[in-house]
Amino acid sequence: MLIHIPKVLTLEQVAQIRAELEKADWADGRNTAGYLAQRVKDNNQVPDAHPVGRKLGDMILTILEKHPTFTSAALPLKVVPPLFNRYTEKQNYGRHVDGAIRPIFGTPHRVRTDLSATLFLTAPEDYDGGELVIEDTFGPGRIKLPAGDMVLYPGTSVHHVEPVTRGTRLASFFWIQSMVREDSQRTMLFDLDNAIQGLGRDVPDHPSVVKLAGLYHNLLRQWADA
Ligand code: NI
Repeated sequence: MLIHIPKVLTLEQVAQIRAELEKADWADGRNTAGYLAQRVKDNNQVPDAHPVGRKLGDMILTILEKHPTFTSAALPLKVVPPLFNRYTEKQNYGRHVDGAIRPIFGTPHRVRTDLSATLFLTAPEDYDGGELVIEDTFGPGRIKLPAGDMVLYPGTSVHHVEPVTRGTRLASFFWIQSMVREDSQRTMLFDLDNAIQGLGRDVPDHPSVVKLAGLYHNLLRQWADA
C-alpha cells in the first residue's frame, strides 16, 4: 500500500531544514549503495554520521513519534534515523530494491526495512522530473508531493527516481521496521483504525464502537511483535 501523509512538516520546518542542509557537506550517494544499486545510483547524500544530518534526522523522528497517521499506518517498531539526498540536473536513481536490513549508524542495531519513506523537501514547482516511481501490483505510481509531505511504501517494491531536468530536488528518506511485518495485515489494520475513528466521531455512543476497537486490538495482539 502507498500512503500519502500530507503536512508532516510545516513550511517553516521545511525552510529550517533546507537552510541547515546548505551548511552540510554532501557526498556521492554511491558510497552507501550496494553492488547492484551502485550501477544505477547518481545523487548526493549527507553522510550518515554528519552532525547536521543527525540533528535534522532527530528533529524529524521527534515529529513522527507524535504523528497519529504515521503511527497508525506504519505501526513502527524501529526507525532508521532519517537521511537526506539531493538530485541536481540530470541526476537520477535507476530501478532498484532497497536492502532488506539496514544498520543504524554508530550502534549495533539493525532495522528490517518493512516500509520505505520519502519526505519531500522541495516544492514541486521548483524542479522538473525527479518523480519517485514505485512499481506495485496496480502498475507504477508516480509520486511528486508538496514540500513537507511524505509517502510510505512497502520496502519490497522496485522503485526509481526519474532524472531531474531543472532545479534541485531535496528529500529525506528512511526505513521503518513495523510491529506488523506483513503489508496486507498492516493495511487492514490501518483501514480498520480509520473506520473506527470515523464512527467514533459520528456515533461515539454506539456500543459497536467499543466492540470494533476491541477487534482492532485483538488483531494487533495476534499480528504484532513489540
Ligand atoms: Ni530506494
